[in-house]
Amino acid sequence: MVCLGNICRSPLAEGLLQHKVDKLGLDVKVDSAGTASYHTGEHPDSRMIKTTANHGIDISSQMAQQFDSEHFNEFDRIYAMDKSNMQDILDLANSDNDRNKVELLLNASHPGQDRSVPDPWYGGEQGFEDVYHLVDAACEKISNSLNDE
Ligand code: 4NP
Repeated sequence: MVCLGNICRSPLAEGLLQHKVDKLGLDVKVDSAGTASYHTGEHPDSRMIKTTANHGIDISSQMAQQFDSEHFNEFDRIYAMDKSNMQDILDLANSDNDRNKVELLLNASHPGQDRSVPDPWYGGEQGFEDVYHLVDAACEKISNSLNDE
C-alpha cells in the first residue's frame, strides 16, 4: 500500500488489509510505504490513528518508510492511493513484471474508474472518516479475492 507520506492513507490501507486477511486466516505479507521520505520513521498521523481506532483497528505502532525499487522484489501486488503516487512508483520499476504489479487501490472496489483516495491530511475529521470507508471497501474486495486464490 503506497501513498505520498505513509502517515495517513497507506497506513490505514495496511491496517485494514492486515485485519481482513487475519480474520480470513490467510498468510499474506502486508506493508505500506510513501513515495516521499518527509515522514520516514514517524508513526501515522494522530487523526488517522484515532479514526481507525474508532473502528477497532490499531495502526499506532506502524512506522513510515519510503518506497524503493526493492519492494518490487518483495511484493506481488503494489496498490497506489492516487495517480501521482502510481506514476512515482512506475518511475522506479525496472521491468514489465514490476509495472504489472502496480494498480490504483480504488480500482479494486470501483473497477476501471481510476479513482484516487483523496488525501485527508490538509482537511478536517470528516475527511478521515470518508477515506476510511473508501479504503475499507477496496480492502474488502482485495481480501476476498486473495481468499479465492
Ligand atoms: P499521506 O498524506 O500521503 O496519505 O500519508 C500526506 C501526509 C503528509 C504530507 C502529504 C500527504 N506532507 O506533505 O507532509
